[in-house]
Amino acid sequence: MRTQLSDIQRMKDRAERLVMVTAYDYTSAQLIDRTDIPLILVGDSLGMVVQGNSSTVPVTIDEIVYHTKAVMRGSSKALVVSDLPFLSYTSPEQAIQNAGKLMQLGGCGAVKLEGGVNMAPTVRRLVDLGIPVMGHLGFTPQSVNQIGMRVQGKTVAHARQLLEDALALEAAGAFAIVLELIPAALAKAITERLHIPTIGIGAGVGCDGEVQVWHDILGLYSDHLPRHTKRYADLGSTIEQALNQYAHEVRERSFPTAANSSVIDAKTLAEALGEQAVSLGSNAKLSV
Ligand code: KIV
Repeated sequence: MRTQLSDIQRMKDRAERLVMVTAYDYTSAQLIDRTDIPLILVGDSLGMVVQGNSSTVPVTIDEIVYHTKAVMRGSSKALVVSDLPFLSYTSPEQAIQNAGKLMQLGGCGAVKLEGGVNMAPTVRRLVDLGIPVMGHLGFTPQSVNQIGMRVQGKTVAHARQLLEDALALEAAGAFAIVLELIPAALAKAITERLHIPTIGIGAGVGCDGEVQVWHDILGLYSDHLPRHTKRYADLGSTIEQALNQYAHEVRERSFPTAANSSVIDAKTLAEALGEQAVSLGSNAKLSV
């Protein structure tokens, strides 16, 4: 049985830490399924770590649907949350249509969108229609061209605004909020004032849980290693080593071996080649 919204809330109520990680394909979702991580995010960070763009801005709703489908095939236990990408929720009607695509075509169990007070009416409409919504505040990557890639909420006004945004999302029915790149003490203060869980990334240990990008924690993305992440494995180096070994063995003919190949009996092969040679004309026939 997949993680339910009630499980997520219960974890906050019992002060159990919530763990979330991104996934973009079947294989990684299968690997997550072998753990007890209860939350998967099909994040628009795929625009950077999968597609090689410099931001999440180019990602489209159809791309998130595509990746959500793959993740859903590989996962059976986690609640899968999919991102509504840039400009896919500029009105409540558009948000309903696109969240509908993510859930009906992609198969995810919830959607995430960026924004606070300004997005509260949209969140309310979605929730009223049975679409679970996770909010996202602080550094909101879809606004990178406006706000830059930096810690948010460091002034009195901005810190207050973030608290107001979080309260507005909660009042509108969001079931959880991602807090990205905000000071740890502010994230803790917001977390303590909310009934719903917060999930931090670059927001300290005072949130109810943490979300990290698959490629960052596994050492698969070398363009940029954010300070807020930690490498739990260096799979990039492991893969590089394996690829070099593979290339070496192919070049020196030690792979494939007989064990990787199949056989045909000599008579059958000769007969097959003979028939082929006849059909190729007089020159080919001579060479048999
Ligand atoms: O797209 C994403 O991976 C995200 C996380 C950074 C929270 O939104």
